[in-house]
Amino acid sequence: MRIAVTGATGVLGQEAVEALVAAGHEVTGITRRDSGVPIVEGRGGSAIVADVFDPHDLARAFRGHDVAINALAHVPVGMSGLRPLAWREDDRLHLEASVAIAKAAAEAGVRRLIQESTIFLYPDNGAEWISEDLPLSVRNQAFRPRVKEMRAAVDFATSGRSTVILRLGQLFGRDQHTTHALKATRDGDPILLGKPDQYITLLHHSDAGRAFVAALRASSGFYNVGGEPILKKRWAKDLATEAGSEHPAKFYPEITQAIVGTRLDVQRRSQRVSSLRFMSETGWRPTVGPSTPGWSRR
Ligand SMILES: NC(=O)c1ccc[n+]([C@@H]2O[C@H](COP(=O)([O-])OP(=O)(O)OC[C@H]3O[C@@H](n4cnc5c(N)ncnc54)[C@H](OP(=O)(O)O)[C@@H]3O)[C@@H](O)[C@H]2O)c1
Repeated sequence: MRIAVTGATGVLGQEAVEALVAAGHEVTGITRRDSGVPIVEGRGGSAIVADVFDPHDLARAFRGHDVAINALAHVPVGMSGLRPLAWREDDRLHLEASVAIAKAAAEAGVRRLIQESTIFLYPDNGAEWISEDLPLSVRNQAFRPRVKEMRAAVDFATSGRSTVILRLGQLFGRDQHTTHALKATRDGDPILLGKPDQYITLLHHSDAGRAFVAALRASSGFYNVGGEPILKKRWAKDLATEAGSEHPAKFYPEITQAIVGTRLDVQRRSQRVSSLRFMSETGWRPTVGPSTPGWSRR
């Protein structure tokens, strides 16, 4: 198939390009800058320079493709997410670029849209499992961009077109966020939010890349995509093992956690997310877990 990927130079997008090429697809990565071209080519795709906020420019880039995959994101690292305007770029990408992408894909005759989304839209569900049927917790204005993005993707699925929305678990691997978490663990600084007995659902980047390939064979709908959920205290130990530290990663004190604001507050939730629907529909399986040695270098 001919597949166009937006966000192709990002952590997620690069993994998607590589996995799609390995599966035999012809992949075009979209980037706004000339310096993004060799990044896409390095993963085996070809690149087109286009503006993801301009539906006409995007339609030009999408023409002749069967599928569009949107992996755009710009998530601030660690506590920098507390800074004023820290989320402005990420919001714009979900609020404006994702809408432009859905519109342009329809105009260009693309038949399928695969949209990256997140499990952080689910509420805290304690020790209970979270399936795709659990109502989202998105009343706060902060979630407006993600909700608008979802609506645009759902609207794309008319007149014989299809949309697959992937609610990805918390990504880990060789990326800025995890590198920051490993360094904090090594330095004995707090890095985790929530409580040790809560659940966390993680997803390694390489498994996320393969999930975009698997999504090509899923029917229209929402799917959770994550590894086996674990307790946060287990994750604290896994971070320490990977960081080469004797002591588990530390949780922020309650008093700090109380003031993190809505954006980071999602990481204080307990999320035991089931990916059964995606696994049984597509055959996808997670292959790298937080106790797989060397996961931060893969
Ligand atoms: N579920 C999750 O836990 C989750 C989901 C997503 C990301 N993350 C984390 O967030 C961190 C950053 O992710 P990332 O590396 O994918 O993000 P990134 O490198 O900041 O950006 C990803 C892509 O978005 C494009 N982009 C970013 N800002 C843009 C803007 N203002 N206008 C137009 N395009 C823009 C870039 O394309 P250009 O080539 O045009 O520059 C880039 O390819 C990573 O550590 C990742 O693990 C976590």
